Amino acid sequence: MSDRFVIILAAGKGTRMKSKLYKVMHKVSGKSMVDHVLTQVEAMKPKEIVTVVGHGAQEVEDLLQERTKYALQSEQLGTAHAVIQAEDILKDHSGTTLIISGDTPLFTEETLNNLFEYHEQQNAKATVLTAKAPNPFGYGRVIRNENGDVTNIVEQKDANEQEAAVDEINTGVYCFDNHELFTRLHEVGNDNAQGEYYLPDVVEIIRNTGGKVSAYQMEDFNESMGVNDRVALSNAEKVMRQRINEMHMRNGVTLIDPINTYIDYGVEIGSDTIVEPGVKIFGDTVIGEDCLIGSGSRIENSKIGNNIKIISSTIEDAVMKDGSNCGPNSHLRPNAEIGEDVHIGNFVEIKNTKIGDRTKVGHLTYIGDATLGTDINVGCGVVFVNYDGVQKFHSEIGSYTFLGSNSNIVNPVKIADHAFVAAGSTITEDIPYHAMGIARSRQVNKEEFWDRLAVSKSEEWNK
Ligand code: UD1
Ligand code: MG
Repeated sequence: MSDRFVIILAAGKGTRMKSKLYKVMHKVSGKSMVDHVLTQVEAMKPKEIVTVVGHGAQEVEDLLQERTKYALQSEQLGTAHAVIQAEDILKDHSGTTLIISGDTPLFTEETLNNLFEYHEQQNAKATVLTAKAPNPFGYGRVIRNENGDVTNIVEQKDANEQEAAVDEINTGVYCFDNHELFTRLHEVGNDNAQGEYYLPDVVEIIRNTGGKVSAYQMEDFNESMGVNDRVALSNAEKVMRQRINEMHMRNGVTLIDPINTYIDYGVEIGSDTIVEPGVKIFGDTVIGEDCLIGSGSRIENSKIGNNIKIISSTIEDAVMKDGSNCGPNSHLRPNAEIGEDVHIGNFVEIKNTKIGDRTKVGHLTYIGDATLGTDINVGCGVVFVNYDGVQKFHSEIGSYTFLGSNSNIVNPVKIADHAFVAAGSTITEDIPYHAMGIARSRQVNKEEFWDRLAVSKSEEWNK
């Protein structure tokens, strides 16, 4: 096996995306396309990876960091010109260089490895990875002679009718003998419909100068999909989604309706968890075993333990520990940390708050900036008043306390263990151990009130 090198082309603007975001930064299942490509490339452990950046260079470098070296293409004159930018880093090496585009997010390590191996077996100077496309429009077409040998690649815009009818496409992935590549790149011209220096032309030049050219046709066209516009982006997302969902199902997760289940790349889910239709699980999320994630829930960057039930709720940057439940229609916001066997019922919002084990927050409650102990009962409609319009304040509620319904806890207060808040109270001061805080006006009954009303004289009302 010769030394392996990889070049990722990621300098284009992606005009056809019609976007402020550079093309390769667009996400497929929560991960930028160029990151998907790099992840698969890294798995092969090549000796050197060079990413060619141009448009959005800073954004791409911020995303990929030290995982790759960079070559800057300051003017986008075509894919061959892009590869030339990696010359300083790679030209003195002997070995095989694989080139892949940053806009083909579905390639797997396995396919790339197969290409390397095939290229080496064939002892070729250049090997093109090709696929049969159901609709080849937009791709470079692979032209073969009567013996079936690849002669050249023709871009859509340069293709005559006969060439356009070819359904074998250039996937934009190639292996080259490294020295041959950097010699022949300089012979590429730009006399074509787009006035660009086309990388695929190197293949023809190598053949015409006596170098062996081969082609490796992959089975699954979907894997080679290149994303140039938003339609292709959604198609790529669909393929990636299916791949991710099948992986989870094979791992023992039940997805009731996988087509309508949206799980980002990298999410982890334990076995025997059931995910209902319409659920979205995004970002850096880990979900444990034996959970039920009900329809319409959205979970983002959160850690969900085992045996947890979430019904139609939104959980973001939050933690739920084993045995707890949430919903329907509740919202855990950043830094909500829910202990074990906690019950969060319906229409509850919790932010920047730690809740101890077995505490119950049943209905219509807002808790912001607080620490709650264990075994607390939070009545219906309790509101933590955490903001005075300028500053946020924090309250502490002891274990085994009882917060009566419709009370306001005006932060900052400290309520000790085993304390009570009477329903309807507005609590502005600390409550000691075993005490009850009551802060509401007393009830007064106005006797004979009915008789004072003019309406009471009408026959209608006295029926
Ligand atoms: C390219 C191939 C085409 C192939 C298709 C597969 C060429 C000329 N054509 O077409 O044969 O079927 O990919 O998806 O190569 N880039 C640069 N610098 C540039 C131009 C492009 O870095 O000056 C990068 C882009 O960011 C992109 C990749 O190269 O990641 C491919 O460029 P793109 O414009 O998408 O080429 P396609 O038209 O898709
Ligand atoms: Mg493309």
